[in-house]
Amino acid sequence: MATPVSDLDIPDLTWADDGTVTADQQRATVAKAAGESWIARNMFGYSILHYDDVVAMLRDKRWHSASGKIMEMSGIDNPEWLARRRTSILSAEGDEHTRLRRLVGPAFSPRHADALRPYMRRVVNELLDEFTSKGEADLAVDFCEPYPIPIICELFGAPKDDWKLFSEWATDIFRIFNGNLHEDMPTIIRAQDELDAYVSDIIEQRRSTPSDDLISSLIAAESDGDRLTHAELIGLCDAVLMAGTDTTRNQLGCSVSLFAKHPDQWQLLAEHPELAPRAVEETMRYFGTVRGTARFASEDIEYRDLLFPKGSFIAPSLAQANLDPTVFEHPGTFDITRDPPDKPQLTFGSGIHYCLGAALARAEQQEALAIMATRLPDLELAGEISWKSATAGIFGPEHLPIRFTPT
Ligand code: HEM
Repeated sequence: MATPVSDLDIPDLTWADDGTVTADQQRATVAKAAGESWIARNMFGYSILHYDDVVAMLRDKRWHSASGKIMEMSGIDNPEWLARRRTSILSAEGDEHTRLRRLVGPAFSPRHADALRPYMRRVVNELLDEFTSKGEADLAVDFCEPYPIPIICELFGAPKDDWKLFSEWATDIFRIFNGNLHEDMPTIIRAQDELDAYVSDIIEQRRSTPSDDLISSLIAAESDGDRLTHAELIGLCDAVLMAGTDTTRNQLGCSVSLFAKHPDQWQLLAEHPELAPRAVEETMRYFGTVRGTARFASEDIEYRDLLFPKGSFIAPSLAQANLDPTVFEHPGTFDITRDPPDKPQLTFGSGIHYCLGAALARAEQQEALAIMATRLPDLELAGEISWKSATAGIFGPEHLPIRFTPT
């Protein structure tokens, strides 16, 4: 007979969500718990702390994505919002999810991501040109924030001049996570409607005149006579904008802040920009922006002789799994020359919801870090970094003041 998970005597990771616990304190508490146990109690259910358990549970299809339940879990029941929600690839499961991945997967291949590299390099250089003569910048605001948007526009085949519109829509839609939904709801809904109408227009244009972009590929995507519906196309474009902007900009912020504290590693990258692919994997392992994800039990689940009743929530900690000493030798050492480990870093997740945009996100970061290190080899911190709230699902710096020799 499996033991009910609620009977376990395990570390408790419940803390006040009022900003009094810093990210460093949180990290230390989670690391201590991981030293004692593979599982700990948290506010919503259980945190999963060891690499092999995180991977096993993310690959177990009985655990379903909780991304469609964020509102519910946060106690938000605005009927207007709930009525407008649709299943997205992030929350779909079973056959519905398999079908979507089969149809859209090819459009997100490494080959497609590589085709955008020259454009990425142009965007990186143009953004750097704005401030390299000044000798100082707020890297989070001046670089990380704008960087992913023109790339998503290019991916969509949207005119370059429209990138500011996308940026505003993304900012407004991200208000979902600001904890002030009552006030923000009209703005969020308006942004969502405008984005939907905009994407709808592009879809119509591409139906009559296909081009070499993501939307044309998605319209053409067909498998065994199956195709994406108009609503699914819009849903996917929303998902890409949502999942592909804040993640990339915050990961870059985390990565550069890390390099600023390890100047020897930055110097190494400046001298050997070909190390960029390894640097991306190591920064994402050591300091990933997506700290964890969430799943709920779609049925009673037995795992490691424990019973998780239907509806139980788990939070697989990607960040803590990335520091598991049974997988990564000396996990607390940041070393961009580290031999590629047998098992991958987990900041892109694992299992069926593994990041669809991983090839694109890798290319974006590799290009940005390689060029930045070459152009700003003596980059250093010029003041305190201000961080997002420690409980942010996508963590990163709000302000990252740097200085360097002007050029
Ligand atoms: C450094 C940047 C990024 C990180 C760290 C990241 C991380 C993740 C993670 C952890 C997941 C899985 C979530 C879960 O299991 O609950 C995910 C899913 C996803 N990501 Fe990313 N992502 C990044 C960039 C991107 C980009 C650039 C795009 C698109 C262009 C993208 C599109 C998606 C989509 C559509 C999903 C849902 C896949 C599915 O549910 O089947 N991501 N991402």
